[in-house]
Amino acid sequence: MGDFFRRESMPTLVVVGTQWGDEGKGKVVDVLTEQADFVVRFQGGNNAGHTLVINKKKHILHLIPSGIFRPNTVCVIGNGVVVDPEVLINEIEKLKKEGLDLSPKKLIISEKAQTIMPYHKALDIAREAKAGENKIGTTCRGIGPCYEDKVARKGFRLIDLTYPETFKEKLKKILEEKNFLLSYLNAEPLKFEEIYEKYLAFGEYLKPYLADVSQLLWNAQKAGKNILFEGAQGTFLDIDHGTYPYVTSSNTVAGNACCGSGLGPTEINSVLGIVKAYTTRVGEGPFPTELHDEIGELLRERGGEYGATTGRPRRCGWLDLVMVKTAVRLNGLTYLAITKLDVLSGLKTLKLCVGYKYEGQIIDFFPSELEKLKKVEPIYQELPGWEEDISQIKNFDALPEATKNYIKFIEQYLEVPIALLSFGPERESCFLLKNPFDK
Ligand code: GDP
Ligand code: IMO
Ligand code: MG
Repeated sequence: MGDFFRRESMPTLVVVGTQWGDEGKGKVVDVLTEQADFVVRFQGGNNAGHTLVINKKKHILHLIPSGIFRPNTVCVIGNGVVVDPEVLINEIEKLKKEGLDLSPKKLIISEKAQTIMPYHKALDIAREAKAGENKIGTTCRGIGPCYEDKVARKGFRLIDLTYPETFKEKLKKILEEKNFLLSYLNAEPLKFEEIYEKYLAFGEYLKPYLADVSQLLWNAQKAGKNILFEGAQGTFLDIDHGTYPYVTSSNTVAGNACCGSGLGPTEINSVLGIVKAYTTRVGEGPFPTELHDEIGELLRERGGEYGATTGRPRRCGWLDLVMVKTAVRLNGLTYLAITKLDVLSGLKTLKLCVGYKYEGQIIDFFPSELEKLKKVEPIYQELPGWEEDISQIKNFDALPEATKNYIKFIEQYLEVPIALLSFGPERESCFLLKNPFDK
């Protein structure tokens, strides 16, 4: 009977980060979009920095989905994304100059996506400055203030920029309030004329790209196309489930692929969680397995752990499997991808956090409260490392035994099958063990 009721549809895969971002989502999405008809960003904005290395050339994408280098993949920006139109237009122009197709057939943007306005950026910067030691360590791209306005029903959807009169009236009112706030934060007020003209021009530029993304994806599904959702940030930067308040301002978990694109939950059939072989974090907030020693330094230097958006050094530490296990639950992961295993080559002993000690007790879940997180002490499983350079390896059997053991330990602890292993930044430095589009 089950099969009788199930509607035929093509695979839809959500790809998310399981840690604090920068797990290698851009690289993995670039690899997987070889098989995808559509790739959809559904949350976040240009706080994201997704790196792709193709033919030795490095590309960092902030808003455009990481399928743009695949000639047959349509790139979509969903309603859940906050769009800085200036950043988006610059990204489009830059990629056009590299000879890529950036026509409105190739890139489609939800008319409902919210617009990051100059006052959002100014407020983000001013608040962080005022907070001093208590800052969140945001990317200062205006992400938080833009989502605040969306929820407060004071935001501008991209389509609003194409209605000059209503845009004018609303902007005048809103700017009054924002300038009041900016003056309270000792920041310069902004001028209406400068914003209005500039944003009208952005609206004109973007108009051909705007569409009803929900309808587009629905039709694509019905036509048998496969869709990949590209998450930004990571599970523990989620506004609800992350290390609040040291988080971003959107839901980064897989469930938001639906809200952020307008496709229903029954259309999603698999979720791939990307796990970096160790842990990194940019910005402030708790980090139980953080290393403040030469191993942390080594991971940063060898892994090139500097923010793709802000250039800030990333904090580094051992792989925290308690965290990732929690991410398995929060995202309903059906597959894992492990990245940056090559970075661990040469370390004598590898440590994996498999539990925490908290006030004399052992816990095996990631606590919600900062107060607890500050106090937890990681319990480590130690495994032998490997000396070999594994960056050129193309199949599982060819890996050193110690690498295989490290990978198997992760898979067994998390009880989720690994679909992809990555050993370097280049498109080719990885291989599939399973097809993550399969249910
Ligand atoms: P994202 O935000 O999740 O897309 O990740 P970022 O691009 O911010 O950071 C990941 C960094 O690691 C980038 O510099 C990638 O080029 C690089 N990278 C991705 N996968 C691998 C890998 O398997 N090995 C190594 N050494 N680097 C990788
Ligand atoms: P990708 O998609 C890593 C972090 C910031 C800060 C917090 C809030 O490349 O993995 P925000 O500007 O969003 O209000 O900052 O979230 N953050 C990221 N860290 N990778 C990202 O994106 C991030 N996007 C935001 O550093 O701690
Ligand atoms: Mg990144």
